[in-house]
Amino acid sequence: MATTHNVQRVEAEHTSFGRTTVYEGELLRHSAYTRVVHWLVALTFLLALLSGFALFSPWLYAWIAPIFGSGARARLLHPWFGIAFAIAVLFQVRGWAYQMRWQPKDREWVKHAKDYATKTDEPEPEYVGKFNGGQKIWFWVMAWSAVIFLVTGVFLWFPEILSRTAMWICYFFHDLMGLIMLGGFFIHLYEGTSGIPGTLRGMLHGTVTRAWAWTHHPAWYREVTGRDPIRDREQDGGQLSR
Ligand code: HEM
Repeated sequence: MATTHNVQRVEAEHTSFGRTTVYEGELLRHSAYTRVVHWLVALTFLLALLSGFALFSPWLYAWIAPIFGSGARARLLHPWFGIAFAIAVLFQVRGWAYQMRWQPKDREWVKHAKDYATKTDEPEPEYVGKFNGGQKIWFWVMAWSAVIFLVTGVFLWFPEILSRTAMWICYFFHDLMGLIMLGGFFIHLYEGTSGIPGTLRGMLHGTVTRAWAWTHHPAWYREVTGRDPIRDREQDGGQLSR
């Protein structure tokens, strides 16, 4: 989003899902459609997570069940939130699967993930494209989590069709996935907000600054602008987006 309206507007994307205005010094990061789908994934995930944790332990039940009215209502709604999450993920996978395909450079990124976490490696290596290796891992974990939640969840919804052992296997994988996704969600929340300032605006308003792009996704910067990220950064006084 442009923070001031006296900045020159350079591009506007209009779709039935909404509008994205790109101002001078910005790049289009996520279309309105991508943003709507992402926030639907986030909303359905949080509803499924909360209602699921209400059923997970008596301590959490006392805290969370009242949000849904009662424990019985949380139990009733949880599978439907799960199905809504899986459908939203399906749309997200359709939109992002191609850009998220795993490449050798992503393995390289994973080897340096510690530098990324401690921010000793800024700007990001020149080969980092629209999404880095960590983002791709999060994407695929989320996609497979939807499959695992759905398959095990449908069986747990109708437990009479399962043997006792099969039911415990379903419980184990359903709950394990819930805990993995909870951990992943906190990391994602941090990286998407205060961890890397300037990232959230891409998902709220669709645009990022050029400095953000040449700092965190240099190969993507080169791809969308046709310009050299290092030279442009140097010409701008070596400015990094922090
Ligand atoms: C509710 C808090 C959330 C916030 C603030 C948030 C923020 C963001 C932001 C800013 C991006 C764009 C990153 C970029 O352009 O480089 C993003 C991407 C993404 N989000 Fe979220 N998100 C949230 C919840 C979720 C949830 C619950 C899921 C899935 C269960 C999810 C899945 C993804 C995926 C797969 C991507 C693409 C890969 C990545 O950038 O990590 N997000 N999110």
